[in-house]
Amino acid sequence: MATSCARILLLLVFLSLQYLAEANIRRYKFNVVMKNMTKLCSTKPIVTINGKFPGPTLYAREDDNVIVNLTNNVNYNVTIHWHGVKQLRTGWSDGPAYITQCPVQPGGTFVYNFTLTGQRGTLLWHAHISWLRATVHGAIVILPKRGVPYPFPRPHTERIIVFGEWWNSDVEAVISQSTQSGLPPNISDAHTINGLTGQVPGCKSRGYTLHVETGKKYLLRIINAAVNDELFFKIAGHNLTVVEVDATYIKPFDTETLFLGPGQTTNAILTANHPQGNFLMTISPFMDTVVPVNNVTATAFLRYKDTRTQALKSSKIPPVNATSIALGFSDSLRSLNSPDYPTNVPLKVDHSLFFAIGVGVNPCATCINGTKTIADINNVSFVMPTVAMLQAHYFNKSEGVFTDDFPGKPSTPFNYTGGLSNLRTENGTKVYRLEFNATVQVIIQGTSVIAPESHPTHLHGSNFFVIGKGLGNFDPLKDTKKFNLVDPVERNTVSVPTAGWTAIRFIADNPGVWFFHCHLEVHTSWGLKMAFLVEDGNGSNEKLPPPPSDLPIC
Ligand code: C2O
Repeated sequence: MATSCARILLLLVFLSLQYLAEANIRRYKFNVVMKNMTKLCSTKPIVTINGKFPGPTLYAREDDNVIVNLTNNVNYNVTIHWHGVKQLRTGWSDGPAYITQCPVQPGGTFVYNFTLTGQRGTLLWHAHISWLRATVHGAIVILPKRGVPYPFPRPHTERIIVFGEWWNSDVEAVISQSTQSGLPPNISDAHTINGLTGQVPGCKSRGYTLHVETGKKYLLRIINAAVNDELFFKIAGHNLTVVEVDATYIKPFDTETLFLGPGQTTNAILTANHPQGNFLMTISPFMDTVVPVNNVTATAFLRYKDTRTQALKSSKIPPVNATSIALGFSDSLRSLNSPDYPTNVPLKVDHSLFFAIGVGVNPCATCINGTKTIADINNVSFVMPTVAMLQAHYFNKSEGVFTDDFPGKPSTPFNYTGGLSNLRTENGTKVYRLEFNATVQVIIQGTSVIAPESHPTHLHGSNFFVIGKGLGNFDPLKDTKKFNLVDPVERNTVSVPTAGWTAIRFIADNPGVWFFHCHLEVHTSWGLKMAFLVEDGNGSNEKLPPPPSDLPIC
C-alpha cells in the first residue's frame, strides 16, 4: 500500500515536472461567421469570430506555440493579425493582407502557427483587411512562464477590458463609400467597453460591470481595439497603477487617467480600496485638432460586493482636446530595465531614417470634389499590391509587385508643422530594405499639410524603443541630446504627437516583410503605410523558412 502510494506520488511529481519544463501547444478554432448584434437600439449583421463581439480571448504562456485554425464562413476575404506578437521567423503567420499573405477567401481555411518567444503580457488580435477589425478582434493574454512571478505584487485576479468603436451602418460600406467619393468616412456612432456602450442618449442600453471586493487587487488587461479613436480611460474614485504596456513591463506609476491609441494595450492594477459603492468607468476620445471625432463617452461600472445603493460616483471626463493628459501619460512610461528585464536599446545606428507622416490631397477624376484625401510617408502614398509581398520576396518575384526604393527621408525637406504645403503625393508600393541585424532609428515627424493629427504608429515583426518625442519640427542638434537611451519604453505602437515627432529605435533581427503604418484605420486606408524588408542572415536560424503549404493564393 505504502509503496504504491509512493510510486503514484513519484509519478505525479515526474508528470508535473514535465509539465513545468515544456512549452505547451495552444490550439484554437476561429470560425468567421456573421452574427446579428443590437447596439444603440438598432440591429445589424456583423462579421465575428465564433459569433462573439469582442471575439474569443487567446490564452497562452511565454514560449508557447499557438495554432489557430481559421475557417472563413463569410462573404468577405479575411486575415487575422496577432498585433504585437513578434513572429520570429514566422512572418507567414503575421496576417496583414497582401503584405505577408493573400487573404483567406470565402469558404477557405488557413492555420496560423507561431510561438510567443520571450513575450508576456497583454496584446490583441484583429482582422487585417479593409475595416473588418471593427468587429473582428479580441485579447491575447500571455502569462509568464510557469513559476516566474510578475515583477509587481501578485494581484488577486485579473479582468480583460476591450475598447471598441461602433457604427450603426455596415462598416465595410462606410469605408467603400469614402474610397469612392474621396471624402473622409463617417465617424462612428458609439464606443464600447467589452462590447457594451453603456447608457447613451435616446436608447436604454446596458454597460459592462466589473465586480470587485474590498481590499483586493485586480490586474486589468486593457486593450484599445477601436478603429480610429485614441481613448482616455478612467474609473471614478480610483487611481490605477500602470505596470505594463504593449506586453513589456514598465516602472510602475499611478495615474487617474489612462491613454491608449488603437492597437495599444496597458496592464494596470486596480486596488479596491473603498468599503463599498458604484463607480463610473468611462472611455472618451482624444482629438486635439480640427478633425471631427465621435465624442460619445462609453460607460461601464465598478461595483463593490454588498453595495446596496444604486447611487453612482462619477468623475470629470477629460476634455476631448486634453493634450496635456495624453502627453503626460506617454511621458510617464519608462521601461523596467531590471536585471531580469533589461532594456537592450541599440546604441549605434546603421540606418538613420526620417519619416514625415500626414494627410494630403490628390486629384481624383471620379471623386465628388475632383480630389481625394490621402495620407503618406515621405510623400509616398502606399498602394496595396494584388499579391502578397512576402511571397513575392521569398520567391524572388518582386518585379511588378514592389520596389525597394522607399525614401529614407523626404526628397524635399519643408517646414513640416508649418501648415499648408506639399499637397500632392506620389503613389507606390515601396519597401525600405534592411540587412539582417541592422539597427534602425526612425524620426517619425507628424506634418500639418492638411491638419496636424496624433498618429498611433505601429510596426510589425518587432518592438521598438521610444527614445524621444517633442512638439514642432525635430531639431537634430538639440533633440538628439535629450534622447533616453537608458530606460526608454518598449512598444509596438506609439503615438506621434499632433504637429510633433517621436524617435524610435529597433533591431532588424527578424527576416521578412514588415508593415509599418498608422493604426488609425482611416489613415491606413488613405495610404499612411510602408513596409520594411528585412533580409535573411547567414545563420540557419536567421532565415525565413518556406511558406506553409496551406498559405492562401490571391
Ligand atoms: Cu494592429 Cu498592421 O496592425
